[in-house]
Amino acid sequence: MPVAVRRVLIATLVTSALALMTTATALAGNGGFLPPPAHSPNAQRVTDAYIFVGAFSLVIFLIVEVSLITFIVKYRRGKRARNVEGPQIHGAGRLEIIWTVVPVLILAAIGTFVFYKLPGIADVPKAAAADETTVKIEGHQFYWLFRYPNGAVSIDRMVAPADEVVKEDVIGLGFDVNHSWWVPELGGKFDAIPGITNKTWFKAPQGDYVARCAELCGIQHALMDGDVHVVPRAQYDQFISTRASAAGTKALGSEEWHGVCQSCHRLDHKYIGPALGGNPLLKDRKGIEQLLRNGQGQMPAVGRNWTAHQIDALVAYTKTLGAS
Ligand code: CUA
Repeated sequence: MPVAVRRVLIATLVTSALALMTTATALAGNGGFLPPPAHSPNAQRVTDAYIFVGAFSLVIFLIVEVSLITFIVKYRRGKRARNVEGPQIHGAGRLEIIWTVVPVLILAAIGTFVFYKLPGIADVPKAAAADETTVKIEGHQFYWLFRYPNGAVSIDRMVAPADEVVKEDVIGLGFDVNHSWWVPELGGKFDAIPGITNKTWFKAPQGDYVARCAELCGIQHALMDGDVHVVPRAQYDQFISTRASAAGTKALGSEEWHGVCQSCHRLDHKYIGPALGGNPLLKDRKGIEQLLRNGQGQMPAVGRNWTAHQIDALVAYTKTLGAS
């Protein structure tokens, strides 16, 4: 290949690679290198640790890559014959001490920093009982189920009081598979592993925060998302008391239909599972309960641990669909 052509080729490849590398960065709001803005003290500490470790990584990356490229260019074979050996160098005491001691110091600095930050990530801050709440978060194929202290239930949208400690019990159910509860702005990922309860927390200002399932859990994993809706305490109390009462049944049924059934079913056409429009099952409480509790064929037992109230709420909703 003529030298000129090779130069153009290399330049094109390098520019294309750089363009590709920077696209994602340009598209991401915060420069693409950082976690999304933290809205909880523990999430802030995760971000701090990320930046601290990232800074060392970036500097080391640059040193290694620049030296690598410099050495490749500077010590290339050039016009020397293929069989001529380069200079043979043995031992460099000072250099060897430096490249041993410096990494030890870097690791010590990172270790110290992380262990200093860790308690603020893991430990739940002390708060008066009136100023905190605990929400049980269950990972199901393919939806998130939230149980509040008064027995209220919501699907895919967790409601929480603002500026208070919200304890999260992330629960994996024995009959389901692994999921991972992740609200990037409120902290790290917490796995929902069958048979295990993982505990975490957040304390966030009013706002909506996107939640994801971060563990491949089956065919609709990619759609297993939700959000955390943080509202003033009075609004939170109002929400859970309404939701637990008869007045909240309709909203619960609708959430169950949209969050649970619609993960895999549509009324008018086959989706992951068969179309449900006109199916007599929509009006058959016994049939629905049987299906939810035991699953059938490809369908997992999506409602095995539902309360009778949850099933009633869904049936009340599906009865309104059966009319179609
Ligand atoms: Cu649940 Cu992925």
